[in-house]
Amino acid sequence: MTRNQILIVDDSRMVRNVIKGYLDKFTCDTTEANNGEMGLDLALNAHFDLIITDVEMPVKSGIDMCRELKADPSTRAIPILMISSFDSEEDIHKGFQAGASAYLSKGEVHSQIYDSVERLLSKSSFNSSKLILVVDDSSVIRHLVNTELSKAGYCILTAVNGADALEKLEFHQPDLILSDIDMPVMNGFELCEAVQDHELFKSIPFIVMSTNSDRGHMQRMLRRGAQAYLVKPFNMDQLTILVDKLLSDQFVMLLKDRERLDSERRLMLSTITSLVTALEARDAYTKGHSTAVAGIAAALAEFSGASSQEVQTILIGGHLHDIGKIGISDTILLKPDCLTDKEFSCIQQHPEIGASILSPVDSLADIVPMVRCHHERMDGKGYPNGLKGSQIPLWARITAVADTFHALTSNRPYRTGMKVENAMQIIDDVRGTQLCPDCVDLFMEWLSRDNFQKFAEWDETGSFKDQLMFVD
Ligand SMILES: [Fe+2]
Repeated sequence: MTRNQILIVDDSRMVRNVIKGYLDKFTCDTTEANNGEMGLDLALNAHFDLIITDVEMPVKSGIDMCRELKADPSTRAIPILMISSFDSEEDIHKGFQAGASAYLSKGEVHSQIYDSVERLLSKSSFNSSKLILVVDDSSVIRHLVNTELSKAGYCILTAVNGADALEKLEFHQPDLILSDIDMPVMNGFELCEAVQDHELFKSIPFIVMSTNSDRGHMQRMLRRGAQAYLVKPFNMDQLTILVDKLLSDQFVMLLKDRERLDSERRLMLSTITSLVTALEARDAYTKGHSTAVAGIAAALAEFSGASSQEVQTILIGGHLHDIGKIGISDTILLKPDCLTDKEFSCIQQHPEIGASILSPVDSLADIVPMVRCHHERMDGKGYPNGLKGSQIPLWARITAVADTFHALTSNRPYRTGMKVENAMQIIDDVRGTQLCPDCVDLFMEWLSRDNFQKFAEWDETGSFKDQLMFVD
């Protein structure tokens, strides 16, 4: 965890020690200065996450130090907590005017310093992670807004009109857009429309700032997707408060969204487990097959450098690849003897049945092609669609290798599973005809990298499930 750097500025050593004592609860390092001049010098030459300062001090007051820090772009964003025995409304007002983020009277320190420091530190790290795009053709407005929002710790990107903003959106993903309306080349209304029409940008909060206070105009912008409308000239504090509010609302919304997706995913995984269990309960010989295929296919995907999201997709697909067998009658599925042609063509329907079971579930859209195509062959002689080569989705080709390998090495009612070496030979023999040559090569390399021994051990003990549980 990164340690916060806190600068304490006070002419009394005793007060500095008392404040240091309060900060013990935080993961932080403290630096001390005994007047505003020394505090300013330290702040300009080192990084600080927070400055706690007295107001009345010799050489330079806390108010003057604060004013100078807020005027300098390199120190503007550091939150400043003022602590003073001067606590009239006028004193407090002067502190905030100079740029303080919080003001405590000495009597309040004991009960409030902990909460104030915690709030300022977390707000500062939240704000510094947010990028705001300011769009205005007036350099004065751009400068004013930039200065004010930088003081609050936000990162700022500027654009001179709507077209310039759209160009910047290609390379940056701002957390909020603040835009003028009347601009040359592309105005704010057109920009707002373009942002709302773009899948990736439409969730970015959009604030309009305009000299036009016409009610119809405002409603038109709000209807088109703007979240707020500020009439120029506006108070800069009002702007910062509005930006804070919209960004924290957005943050809460994203958090809720993520929780919803997580719970949907958990529900989906438990449904998958039930489906696979239901399938395997009918056929003791295939028990563990889906888990093993899922584990091998996911390990291969990971070995090939796939992203963790892709590995998760192939893992779930592996678990579900044979789910369509639920729709095949017991007399065929469990028949110990060789199947007739008619029975075999029945079995061949399981990839399509599986795909049609999973198709209605939106979150499984990536998995459906894997399930449908895991019995396709490179030479086009597979089923259900006789796809060839790269027409077969990559994850289905990898699953086919894992499926073949596990089918060969596991025990079946009509034969004992073969040794790993023999299975490797057979897989090599069908490289390029039945199985994808690249996926076979990947598999062979994966096995050769000490996975062979591990796999041989798993195979003998039959403990695929324990060794290959990837699902969290
Ligand atoms: Fe299958």
